[in-house]
Amino acid sequence: MSKKFIYHAAELVTCKGSAPKHGKDMSDIGLIKDGALIIHDDKIAAVGTTEELLPQISESEYEMIDATGKTVMPGFVDSHTHFIFGGYRADEFSWRLRGDTYMSIMERGGGINATVSKTREATLEELVETGKERLAEMLEFGVTTVEGKSGYGLDRETELKQLRAMKELQDQQPIDIVTTFLGPHSVLPEYKGREREFLDEMLNDVMPIVKEEKLAEFADIFCEQNVFSVEDSEYYLTKAKEMGFKLKIHADEMVSLGGAELAARVGATSADHLLKASDEGIREMAKNDVISTVLPATAFCLKEEYARGREMIDSGCALAIASDWNPGSCFTNSIPLLVSLCCIYMGLSIEEVITGLTINGAAAVGRADKVGSLEEGKQADIIFLRFPSIYFMPYHTGVNLVETVMKNGEIVYNK
Ligand code: NIG
Ligand code: FE
Repeated sequence: MSKKFIYHAAELVTCKGSAPKHGKDMSDIGLIKDGALIIHDDKIAAVGTTEELLPQISESEYEMIDATGKTVMPGFVDSHTHFIFGGYRADEFSWRLRGDTYMSIMERGGGINATVSKTREATLEELVETGKERLAEMLEFGVTTVEGKSGYGLDRETELKQLRAMKELQDQQPIDIVTTFLGPHSVLPEYKGREREFLDEMLNDVMPIVKEEKLAEFADIFCEQNVFSVEDSEYYLTKAKEMGFKLKIHADEMVSLGGAELAARVGATSADHLLKASDEGIREMAKNDVISTVLPATAFCLKEEYARGREMIDSGCALAIASDWNPGSCFTNSIPLLVSLCCIYMGLSIEEVITGLTINGAAAVGRADKVGSLEEGKQADIIFLRFPSIYFMPYHTGVNLVETVMKNGEIVYNK
């Protein structure tokens, strides 16, 4: 058995407790000063202070890891990304800087549909290769579990190709990947006015294969004005649920359509974006245990108002925070950027941000029993920051503080 002892962590952030954490509980990150961890193989065997745990081990049998001056915490869970895609859309970013809107670019054939063409052209091998590079970047930011969506195929072959790329990547690198089927991500011109037909194709021709080959756990849809209506989204999500998929929704991003309310009605695990979520939507998410996933880097890149994360937490919601990394609306995987935006613009405390990036992210991808906190029996997915306190995270603005990443008990990245 491999045995490791991490000791003298200036601050050990455990994030322990039942998940997801709602409202005020998001501030409780179970911080231990002079913290220690016993790790046996890939699992955490004990958590406490150095004084408590040191007498429980025999030093000659353990690899001793001195964390003096460091903050030690659970690896981040990036619970909403679109990291598998072909091509880039740097031109669109420059058009947006000149005043074009995301939706107007989409309506004239750019946006998601532009990436669809490039992703259809890409081979499975190319998607795996670029996906691997992107995962390696995420690992450097301390991400140890990531959610990845399809949605740049909009046809059977390419949707499956994206999901299969993620399945292959699971065996080629350390980050755990949770996959989501997002076939209804956009409406191609030939399907305008025939959205139901498109949804039926996805439901009847693609999703049974996804289920059969265990290619995705979640089903997602872009519920938005001029994309999929609330009625069409409800139709699709209800059927996806019957097929055994857990649910996510791109909800209330540009227009307040009632996506958050829909998430509550269909029993979704999370509603994501929520820039325009209504008061009623916020109440419904809190009441029905829908995780509110905010994606502040997307709002930042689109120069939109941030989601009302502060009000969501104060209303008792469980907030998760994720990157939304994708080639269009948000081409960034930066965890430090998320920390800055949440603390500086959304009024969240660093404790709440940590909860959103760890245990609540884990709950948003259905993994809270395995990752997202440092507790006995959980996977030893642990990151070390090069400063002695969590307060350096927002203070050292926009800077990556992650020095070491341990995944399943093994060090997989060291700066
Ligand atoms: O979550 N809003 C819809 N989908 C993605 C954007 C995808 C893209 O622009 O390529 C999002 O922001
Ligand atoms: Fe997204």
